[in-house]
Amino acid sequence: MAGNSLLPATARRLEGKVALITGGATSIGECIARSFCKHGAKVIIADIQDELGQLVSKDLGANMDAFVHCDVTIESDIEKAVDIAISTFVKLDIMVNNAVVGDPRKPSIIDNELTDFERVVRVNLIGVFLGTKHAARVMIPNRQGSIITLGSVCSSVGGVASHAYTSTKHAIVGLPKNAAAELRRFRIRVNCLSPYVTETPLIMNFFKMEEDGGSNGVCSNLEGVKLKKEDVAEAAIYLGSDESKYMSGHNLALDGGFTTINPAFGLFSCSI
Ligand SMILES: NC(=O)c1ccc[n+]([C@@H]2O[C@H](COP(=O)([O-])OP(=O)(O)OC[C@H]3O[C@@H](n4cnc5c(N)ncnc54)[C@H](O)[C@@H]3O)[C@@H](O)[C@H]2O)c1
Repeated sequence: MAGNSLLPATARRLEGKVALITGGATSIGECIARSFCKHGAKVIIADIQDELGQLVSKDLGANMDAFVHCDVTIESDIEKAVDIAISTFVKLDIMVNNAVVGDPRKPSIIDNELTDFERVVRVNLIGVFLGTKHAARVMIPNRQGSIITLGSVCSSVGGVASHAYTSTKHAIVGLPKNAAAELRRFRIRVNCLSPYVTETPLIMNFFKMEEDGGSNGVCSNLEGVKLKKEDVAEAAIYLGSDESKYMSGHNLALDGGFTTINPAFGLFSCSI
């Protein structure tokens, strides 16, 4: 499959940039990897799913063929992935902390297991810390870079997903803010990108959705508009490109207003 037909040079927004994407073997991460390549970036995929990751990586084109087995909870794995980006492509411009795990759907906190909570914290929070740390390590000498962490609507509001997922997604909005404060003097921008629901295994499993049309059950805030993985990738391109050169420490909500609008009561409420 020709997964990487490049756009004309004038339309390429990431030309010459090098990006590392954790959890890039499937779903949103894969879509970001493909979109980044189309826009001229060289992409390294870091994931625990070796076969899928290698397939995607190959599909992205011979000169961009780069997959590294990386468990984001293991510091030496992240360190190695970042070092491979440098040894292969000389620099790292964009780090995308995208890898994630969910936990079982258990409505009562009493039934939540410590082991599940810790597993989610390890991937969704510690993985982001390690990704941010090692990206900064190689970006600092270059005095530039963009670090993007995938948040969620669960980064701003409660009641959507599990306690563990919501806690980690809130925490990873704090880390980019703090890292942005420290790294600004090296011109390294650190931002969060927080989408609404889009159909991926993570969401389908948690909400027990059927493939195709599943998210119809999760009402959209924008009448008739459904968020796609490509929309998330488009926002990631913006944050990775120089178009967002003055944006740092920000949590970019891509949720049709879900986290800023409360239609339960008020002028536009359906029930009044
Ligand atoms: N899908 C949505 O609707 C949605 C909504 C809001 C935010 N997000 C965020 O977008 C990001 C991607 O979500 P998704 O839906 O594509 O998830 P997904 O579960 O479909 O894919 C996650 C990827 O992460 C990889 N991964 C898991 N554990 C890993 C580890 N220890 N080390 C390295 N890789 C690991 C998996 O192999 C997989 O490729 C996440 O940060 C998620 O919180 C997703």
